[in-house]
Amino acid sequence: MYTEKKFNLPELKGFSKESVEAHLGLYAGYVKNLNLIHEIVENQNNPEYARREAFRRQGFEFGGMRNHEIYFASFEGGPQSLSPDSSLYKKIIEWCGTFDTFITIFKNLAMTRGVGWAMLGYDSITDTLVQYWVDEQHMGHLPGITPIIALDVWEHAFIQDFGAPGRGKYIEAFFENLNWSVIENRFQATQK
Ligand SMILES: [Fe+2]
Repeated sequence: MYTEKKFNLPELKGFSKESVEAHLGLYAGYVKNLNLIHEIVENQNNPEYARREAFRRQGFEFGGMRNHEIYFASFEGGPQSLSPDSSLYKKIIEWCGTFDTFITIFKNLAMTRGVGWAMLGYDSITDTLVQYWVDEQHMGHLPGITPIIALDVWEHAFIQDFGAPGRGKYIEAFFENLNWSVIENRFQATQK
């Protein structure tokens, strides 16, 4: 049984309260549907076909739940920049040369056509950061990679406040609101 998380969100620059509330409601739907899937597959009285089809949807609902949890938690505490002394900053420099280069590459990734997520993760096997695209909620997650940034670029994330062609402005707003200390903490947790 999964429980819907509550986020202590500050007022977000560029985002209306209504759109954030609506988005949180969509997140709650993923948690609800994931629990429903578990109920269906665990009940042996359900037809096998129905249980298998429910399993097929698990990745979508689970991804929708976990991606949004990473996303919303990244705003908690309000915007904070990444300290050049932090281990994540040093890792990014080692990888991309400059922090701005990393941001440029990530923003480009986030403009990938279609609905999905731009992700930054950590690969403990190679001790490297990796950027990747996830179609919908589930297709493209990389086995063994721990996500540390999840940027939702489904239209529901921005259309209300930024308009249908407003993905670029929304991506800018995401970074303006991002609390990098949360991201740094996630990275630190991968280093233990
Ligand atoms: Fe979303």
